[in-house]
Amino acid sequence: MLTGKHVVLGVTGGIAAYKACEVVSRLRKLHAEVDVIMTENATKLVQPLTFETLSYRPVCVDTFSRTESWDVKHISLAQKADVMVVAPATANIMAKMAHGIADDMLSTTLLATKAPVLIAPAMNTGMWTAPATQQNLQILRDRGVKTVGPGSGFLACGDSGDGRMSEPVDIVEAICAILCPKRDLEGLKVLVTAGPTVERIDPVRYLTNDSSGKMGYALAQAAQERGADVTLLTGPVHIPVPQGVKAVPVTSTMSLYNAMMEHCEQQDIIVQAAAPADYRVDNPADQKIKKQDGEALVLTLVENPDIAKAVGERKRPGQILVGFAAETQNVLANAQKKLSKKNLDLIVANDVTAEGAGFGVDTNIVTLVTADGTTALPKMSKHDVADRIWDKALELRRG
Ligand code: PMT
Repeated sequence: MLTGKHVVLGVTGGIAAYKACEVVSRLRKLHAEVDVIMTENATKLVQPLTFETLSYRPVCVDTFSRTESWDVKHISLAQKADVMVVAPATANIMAKMAHGIADDMLSTTLLATKAPVLIAPAMNTGMWTAPATQQNLQILRDRGVKTVGPGSGFLACGDSGDGRMSEPVDIVEAICAILCPKRDLEGLKVLVTAGPTVERIDPVRYLTNDSSGKMGYALAQAAQERGADVTLLTGPVHIPVPQGVKAVPVTSTMSLYNAMMEHCEQQDIIVQAAAPADYRVDNPADQKIKKQDGEALVLTLVENPDIAKAVGERKRPGQILVGFAAETQNVLANAQKKLSKKNLDLIVANDVTAEGAGFGVDTNIVTLVTADGTTALPKMSKHDVADRIWDKALELRRG
């Protein structure tokens, strides 16, 4: 129930605007107060009267329309909103939001609001994949704007592909997750590992891998939002530590191992999304290595400790251990081997060769593997993957 919650829904000029009617209807059934702002273009697709009838309130379109109350409408709605939602969100409104353009009622309200913002993009595949749209999306995500969808499928323009607006039920679920966040990790101490490690060759060179830390940081953020006391052991990455999360920076696999040994015992759940190097350079040089006059340079690599295995050997009763398996072949078979070898309760099998999965990207495609079976998840944001992992870890904890 969303009693007392105020949703401001922006409807822009995409054909999916008709689906926004169902969003309003569902929100009203959950007792939310809903104000709808339409762009001029949206009114060409759906009559404001439809939204007025569903929301029981006048629809705002024109910033300068005379209303009975003397408040400045875009400011008052911006302030009243507990969440602002844009569904459908066209490429145009995303561009305006990304660059601070405020030239109509919806864009001015979006610029003025301090409330969380959720967008449900909907557009033709070419527009969605255009570098400009993807860069705008990245700007918005970096600013904390949340997204739901788009999904893939048949589009109104006759094409098939990415760009289909999420179903109203999923949009409403995403709104509920913002307005009434789950606090089911409250009272639990969780530890997450993230990012790559760095193995020194000499003072100016090192061995590392492509991990950006996005998966681990999404896990840390999702756990913090759900009320956990979160410790994040993080390799060197270029993304901000989520608010409220205790970050412990590490560099090499040995330093990650030491930090893990210091923190693991007191944790209720440990999720290891980091990509630690399996090998380190034996005797890194103190000074910069010089060219070998045409001779091959031979580096000897020695095996690093398997941190997940070491944690598995120290596992205490009731503790839940989750690992990742980054694989390029035989994904499930390799993940299953790691599950038992490292004494894990759950392993997240990650085919890092799949498009939209693995290193660097904002989405992931994973299969959750336990001793009892597997659950394949579709492509979703790393934050949503993180939520599914915490859901599963809690289910395993409850037994
Ligand atoms: O950081 P991103 O760019 O978002 O990318 C995410 C990711 C691809 C790094 C992540 O989703 C992922 O798959 N992480 C696991 C990477 C990895 O090291 O996989 P692995 O199969 O080699 O290792 C299996 C498990 O053992 C992992 O939980 C790993 O943290 C752990 N391990 C590995 C080596 C080692 N020496 N000690 C370990 O504990």
